[in-house]
Amino acid sequence: MADTEKVLILDFGSQYTLLIARRVRELKVYCEIHPFSLPLDQVRAFTPRAIILSGGPASVYDPDAPHCSPEIFQLGIPVLGICYGMQLMTKLLAGQVAKSAKREYGPAELFLDDETDLFADLFAEAASPAADRLHHDPHPRNLFSPGQVRVWMSHGDRIEKMPPGFAAIAHSANSPIAAMKHPEKKLFGVQFHPEVAHTPQGLAMLKNFLFRVAACQGQWTPEHFIESTVAKIREQVGKSKIILGLSGGVDSSVAAVLIHRAVGDKLTAIFVDNGLLRLGEAEAVVQLFRDRFQIPLRTVDAGKRFLKKLKGLADPEAKRKAIGEVFIRVFEDEAKKIKGVKFLGQGTLYPDVIESTSFRGPSATIKSHHNVGGLPAKMQLRLVEPLRELFKDEVREVGLKLGMPEELILRQPFPGPGLAVRMLGEVTEERLSVLRQADRIITDELEAAGLSRQVWQYFGVLLPVKTVGVMGDERTYENVVTVRAVKSLDGMTADWADLPHAVLGKIGSRIINEVKGVNRVVYDISSKPPSTIEWE
Ligand code: XMP
Repeated sequence: MADTEKVLILDFGSQYTLLIARRVRELKVYCEIHPFSLPLDQVRAFTPRAIILSGGPASVYDPDAPHCSPEIFQLGIPVLGICYGMQLMTKLLAGQVAKSAKREYGPAELFLDDETDLFADLFAEAASPAADRLHHDPHPRNLFSPGQVRVWMSHGDRIEKMPPGFAAIAHSANSPIAAMKHPEKKLFGVQFHPEVAHTPQGLAMLKNFLFRVAACQGQWTPEHFIESTVAKIREQVGKSKIILGLSGGVDSSVAAVLIHRAVGDKLTAIFVDNGLLRLGEAEAVVQLFRDRFQIPLRTVDAGKRFLKKLKGLADPEAKRKAIGEVFIRVFEDEAKKIKGVKFLGQGTLYPDVIESTSFRGPSATIKSHHNVGGLPAKMQLRLVEPLRELFKDEVREVGLKLGMPEELILRQPFPGPGLAVRMLGEVTEERLSVLRQADRIITDELEAAGLSRQVWQYFGVLLPVKTVGVMGDERTYENVVTVRAVKSLDGMTADWADLPHAVLGKIGSRIINEVKGVNRVVYDISSKPPSTIEWE
């Protein structure tokens, strides 16, 4: 991607680093997050158009405070230091940082002292709608006079003396130097966090830094991504064969279509039907990928193997572990039947990569469910992960541009262990059948009410208790199904969805009337945190 404008984000451990990357991508500029310790030659080799230093929890004078190479500031590349990044820039360039008299945390008024580059035209555009969606801010608009903006502060240190050549460009009540710049070297520092939605003009500031200061143009589009990724996969895989585990979820599906576009029938997708899928799901996967996308697809009907291993297990972790183990074995058995395979395709996303890399260095291991439990190493396969630079919504955009159907691209997340974790207690064929029918009714009714796109996830959970009921003249003693529906933006936090009572009523009466073995339906009114979306 030598031709692509790229931004390098050095991570000093801030909880907001991922948000910086999101914002830069929103501005259609490609970026990557790397640990703060990235050696200088690798910084150069990355050929960044701009560098952003993230915030971080340390104080620059801590004995083990994370430092980057001071030569980063001599490369002629524009640098924006955010919070800790600004303090580090100050220290490394011979300025002075000291403890603030008062730790600043939360909203603050920023007084702009220079509205040229970084703070130019901050009100030309509305605050990012995506930003407002990500963090609920009751006051997203600027409430202050011209020359003043609301920003989000979170720091204990502040700049006491700027390094030579710098000028202050903004101040706040507690920070006389809340933002600074070195105009010739194009070095900028801000004490606050422009990347969070609580800084409503933050996106405009980042845009100024990238476009005005660093001369980026915002060329990063899904089409651009598809074109360069297909070329990259072709080069990587060459004439070899590649396999990919298809789950029917968004990530592995988009990865499959991209890889197929690059290498055609050298790709074989393997779909393991674990018997824990929803009604009609396995058939839909086969129909879509084999018939419509013409991707060579092997399906393995492994439901019995999974059920056998799950027999007698009620503990959630034991169930997940059992499913993971069987999956690997089944996948491996099937993969062995294809000769000459050298690569394994995976739909790993950027947040997975980031979550698994500590800012102290790439020492942490990749999450187990993302590398199919050590399979690549065992089978001596090399990984092809075409989506590892993308966020979920970017993957969806790419999928739509690849001509994939909306129902697949916009579908809800579904856990790898499937219905097994939506069925508390033991997994049996009978209980699966009950849950599948109930779940289908929930889906049908939410779709009929036109609510399916407004709710992040909705599904049924089969509880391991029976309750007394009465049907006709007979006393019954049957299962309870819980309806779970949540609103969320990213699955990290969620609110229970306030579904219309009429819809809930219809779901309840239909499940009790139509699904044999259920005589009670309840609604889950817990939010995450402290609950989780799934029940196991
Ligand atoms: P929780 O239950 O932790 O779920 O609030 C957050 C989101 O992750 C999904 N989820 C999974 N996805 N494999 C997956 O691919 C899993 O094992 C898994 N467990 C939970 C869940 O559906 C929700 O969207």
